[in-house]
Amino acid sequence: MKQTALFLTSLIVIAMGCNTETKVKPGITKKDWGETDGKKVQLFSLTNKNGVEVKIATYGGTITSWSVPTKDGNRADIVLGFDTLGGYLAKPPYFGATIGRYGNRIADGKFTIDNTTYTLATNNGKNHLHGGIKGFDKVIWDAAPVVDSVPTLILSYISKDGEEGYPGNLKSIVQFSLTDDNELVITYDAQTDKATPVNLTNHSYFNLTGDISNSILGHKLLINGSNYTPVDSTLIPTGEIKDVKGTPFDFTTMHTVGERIADVKGGYDHNFVLNKATDPLPLMAVLTDTVSGRTLEVYTTEPGIQFYSGNFLDGKIKNRDGKPINQHSALCLETQHFPDSPNKPGFPSTILKPGEKYHTITKYKIKF
Ligand code: GLA
Repeated sequence: MKQTALFLTSLIVIAMGCNTETKVKPGITKKDWGETDGKKVQLFSLTNKNGVEVKIATYGGTITSWSVPTKDGNRADIVLGFDTLGGYLAKPPYFGATIGRYGNRIADGKFTIDNTTYTLATNNGKNHLHGGIKGFDKVIWDAAPVVDSVPTLILSYISKDGEEGYPGNLKSIVQFSLTDDNELVITYDAQTDKATPVNLTNHSYFNLTGDISNSILGHKLLINGSNYTPVDSTLIPTGEIKDVKGTPFDFTTMHTVGERIADVKGGYDHNFVLNKATDPLPLMAVLTDTVSGRTLEVYTTEPGIQFYSGNFLDGKIKNRDGKPINQHSALCLETQHFPDSPNKPGFPSTILKPGEKYHTITKYKIKF
């Protein structure tokens, strides 16, 4: 009897040990979050003085949760996600993940640099999407928590020459900082030893209502982009840069997502060409849920934003709270260079050369 009790107690202690959150720095905790590929995964949490909490897993450099206090004393999680690693190992469509080496599509998984043609893994029909079969969203990143005036998590990953078909060893560093102004600043840096396309982004799916049974069709959206890049039936840009004026793509003034979505075949899944700005980190998109009063502002150094209205979500996956993730349960605002740039000489270049430094910043500010 005594022995059983002792045994049970030690089991509980061991179990607790696995899930214990350790405070590693002011505003940063860390816990073991399971294992995959024979490597341990950790979950970090960054918090600020206003009670905003962002959780980031070393698997995929994934934002698993991003929550804010509500007026009634509860919390609202504004992104899709799971509380366990298992949810991510089941390969959901990039929930919260860091995307690389190349965010979005490369036509036929092929491109040519200096007369050499490279063939990438194709994982979206005949095209390459979001870095391939095992992109940066499915690898384990090395983590270093630091307090660089604000709680910060630095993730790094070395992608080997030939990985998913890409040339060159690419070292990427993605830094997440949470400020007391309720901003999550994500800085992306990379360097290579052979010329390669690079286009890093984050694939968080937002629903500012905090309850995914409310669709995002009622959210109001503004995008500071007077042009967009039209696509073919496989979502590869045609190469045109088209004026949004008079089209359902005109979000230069606020519109609800649902207002004109029926006029866009398949829903929004398009790259917006952001207007030139003098500010080094300009405000490029604003998303609002008028019911809760929550607003997300997106600032970026990138020339484009992929606005994806969650068209392929189909209710088969359940969110952390067990609710089905239906079509338009959440939307993405992926800051990026334009899709298929390696094959579109008219688009800003995405080729990083040895000796060059890739450096982009995206800042999300949540007002609640
Ligand atoms: C991006 C793409 C979409 C889709 C999602 C993931 O937003 O543009 O077409 O692939 O990722 O499902």
